[in-house]
Amino acid sequence: MSLQFESSVQNSRILSVGAYRPARVVPNSEIVDRIESTDEWIRQRTGIETRHIAGPDESLIDMAEAAANIALKRAGITMEQVSAVIFATITYPYQAPSAATELIVRLGNPKAAAFDISAACAGFCYGIALANDLVKNKTAKYVLVIGGEKLSDFTNPDDRATAFIFADGAGAVVIGPSEGAGIGPTVWGSAADSRDAIQMQPSWIEFKGNQSRVDATWPDISQQGQTVFRWAVYEMAPVGLKAIAAAGLTPETLAAFIPHQANERIIDSLARSMKLPDSVVIARDIKTTGNTSAASIPLAMDALLASNPELHGKTALLIGFGAGLVYAGQVVELPPLTSQ
Ligand SMILES: CC(C)(COP(=O)(O)OP(=O)(O)OC[C@H]1O[C@@H](n2cnc3c(N)ncnc32)[C@H](O)[C@@H]1OP(=O)(O)O)[C@@H](O)C(=O)NCCC(=O)NCCS
Repeated sequence: MSLQFESSVQNSRILSVGAYRPARVVPNSEIVDRIESTDEWIRQRTGIETRHIAGPDESLIDMAEAAANIALKRAGITMEQVSAVIFATITYPYQAPSAATELIVRLGNPKAAAFDISAACAGFCYGIALANDLVKNKTAKYVLVIGGEKLSDFTNPDDRATAFIFADGAGAVVIGPSEGAGIGPTVWGSAADSRDAIQMQPSWIEFKGNQSRVDATWPDISQQGQTVFRWAVYEMAPVGLKAIAAAGLTPETLAAFIPHQANERIIDSLARSMKLPDSVVIARDIKTTGNTSAASIPLAMDALLASNPELHGKTALLIGFGAGLVYAGQVVELPPLTSQ
């Protein structure tokens, strides 16, 4: 006998976005001495001029809570109405319980379903894909997706390959039911044979067997910059074009491009390879935000809508890519303009 219930599908969309950037702004000049670099080199090679770094008493959850509260307010719903919370992060310092469960306690609905995603800089787009399916299949009515990172806790200020790139922040979106389809099919996958290209591990994980944990050191992020750069530049443009086509659009009919903010040269190269026309507005939040991994796309989305309010309700291609190596892209309808 088959299951005895009515199965139906509900369209979904992003209802709102919220962002939180720590107050402390750190210019390149504060970073360069320890890594024998220059402001000019960092600007030319990455596009980064300043970034936000959390205060010593400011936690990942503090930042996520602030972003989530803005998104909830803009969506016009309360936390009690949220039935699932998906938290994309690689910088919550505990294996369990999850960052999402700490967040829902703070937000005042400790009964919502809650879990974390570890998909690094693709985490937010993975979260959008999951939340879309949850709403579509009526597993949840409203889903809160957070991308949040406190990368300053996991970045070695003396590491020439990473110290100037990574930063802190949190972004959040509310995903819920809509009349039309507001989230296109997700194109995603991995290149896990290159999983060594970006790592964040304490030293003891490299040892097998009975290695004692007293050998552990606090994990820092490390990366092979050129490997990641080449992969992103060559492999992500076809992903973007597939996501645009899967949504029934063309580069000419797209309104905005909000890629993961890893390097401005990667952003420019992707836009060129996909032959995006000048009419497509490109998010370049990296200049003042740096690379905030899972937080980078919602932060860039919030900044883009603030500077270009005409983009509310228009289409945007999102692409996240990073440690794994993993990636995900989809076209979404940007959230509508609300009075909040
Ligand atoms: C990290 C990154 C900016 C480095 O740029 P790059 O052009 O690949 O730099 P390279 O490592 O090839 O080094 C080029 C030169 O700059 C020098 N250099 C490297 N790091 C430097 C630094 N922080 N400051 C100044 N000079 C530096 C190197 O010594 C080298 O000098 P040389 O030509 O005299 O030998 C770039 O590879 C990158 O952005 N990669 C992608 C990383 C990324 O996006 N990671 C997150 C993924 S989510």
